[in-house]
Amino acid sequence: MSTRNPILFNDIPAESGLRRALEMHPLDIVAEVRASGLKGRGGAGFPTAMKWQLAAAAEGATKYVVCNADEGEPGTFKDRVLLSDFADLVFEGMTIASLAIGATGGIVYLRGEYTYLVAHLESVLARRRQANLLGNDILGRKDWNFDIVIHLGSGAYVCGEETALIESLEGHRGEPRNRPPFPVNTGYMGRPTIVNNVETLCLAARVLARGATWFRQYGTHASTGSKLFSVSGDCAKPGVYELPMGITIADLLVEVGGLGAKAVQVGGASGHCVPSRLFDRTLAFEDAPTGGSIIIFGQQRDMLAVARNFMEFFVDESCGQCTPCRYGNSVLLDGIERLEKGTCSIRHLNELKALGETMELASKCGLGQSAPKAFLSIIEHFHDEVLGREPPHFAA
Ligand SMILES: Cc1cc2nc3c(=O)[nH]c(=O)nc-3n(C[C@H](O)[C@H](O)[C@H](O)COP(=O)(O)O)c2cc1C
Ligand code: SF4
Repeated sequence: MSTRNPILFNDIPAESGLRRALEMHPLDIVAEVRASGLKGRGGAGFPTAMKWQLAAAAEGATKYVVCNADEGEPGTFKDRVLLSDFADLVFEGMTIASLAIGATGGIVYLRGEYTYLVAHLESVLARRRQANLLGNDILGRKDWNFDIVIHLGSGAYVCGEETALIESLEGHRGEPRNRPPFPVNTGYMGRPTIVNNVETLCLAARVLARGATWFRQYGTHASTGSKLFSVSGDCAKPGVYELPMGITIADLLVEVGGLGAKAVQVGGASGHCVPSRLFDRTLAFEDAPTGGSIIIFGQQRDMLAVARNFMEFFVDESCGQCTPCRYGNSVLLDGIERLEKGTCSIRHLNELKALGETMELASKCGLGQSAPKAFLSIIEHFHDEVLGREPPHFAA
């Protein structure tokens, strides 16, 4: 069994998932996705079938399928590859989802920086309308009416969070909503809405094409199928890799020419930093999960500079709605500056750790909840390096 490119980057015939779905009852489509064990690839790993089932069961004649193509996590660029090279597969997945939940409208929320992809995506959509893969009575199935529009994102990282994304789609400032209610009941324009990552939708199309059993042969029991990894940093072959879920960090480093690394940041700025002695950890929901970002740090890297880089990002990107995140990120950044100058006492460092843990618990959305992770993992695993700075010498 090949371990590279098993599911997405292969030559399964176009539209085979859609043609199979055409013959199925919507409940059976959801059942097939459930049997596959597919979990969302946008980061949180929510079971895709459960989301689809809840939206299918929600009251309302108007429902939406939203493809989250905001791709704002630092170090992530795999959705861009799917959108540019596999756009048909993305739209196929959205169209299958529309049948499963009974949606008539589809929206791709496209990262603002990917504006250059709009013309390509529109031309693929036009071709699909011509082929009756979109529109009314799709492929002759009566009352299967569904079309897709592209909506350009607003440029803020938090707009990738699904409720902020919906706010942004509705023309409001992109700020996370309180939950409940959840988008599956009260989403875009107050209608039942599923928000799925680009890769999740592509995988769902493959599940329909080849079946749940075939899909489950890849990955682990709790993390089935493959994962796209956006690999960057200190390695010989950066790029986008499709590998089975559950691969160890060590094996991934062999694939990408990253042997000898000092640490790997798993999950981008909002993920955590894994030191070399833990490279036997697996990239899977049950161990070291990632939405796809893998950043490799060679031996020469200054880990405090890494922490500073991520924390500056969060200070910039916090939407400011809740105090733990708005205030906490600035205090952590200030702590890093003190560490750099060698003026951070052990007592203050312990306060920073406690603050980070409070942010994880008390922030309103995933941005603030995950913002301290990189910092906390770096001070845990690189304690000596981080504390080893000489304090400034003052003239007597
Ligand atoms: C700050 C923040 C940014 C996010 N950015 C993205 C993103 O760019 N793309 C994405 O698919 N999910 C992103 N998510 C996760 C979404 O909220 C949501 O869980 C995901 O789109 C659900 O799709 P899935 O079930 O297919 O993973 C982000 C979450 C947070 C908290
Ligand atoms: S955690 Fe941060 S980004 Fe999320 S709502 Fe609070 S301030 Fe905004």
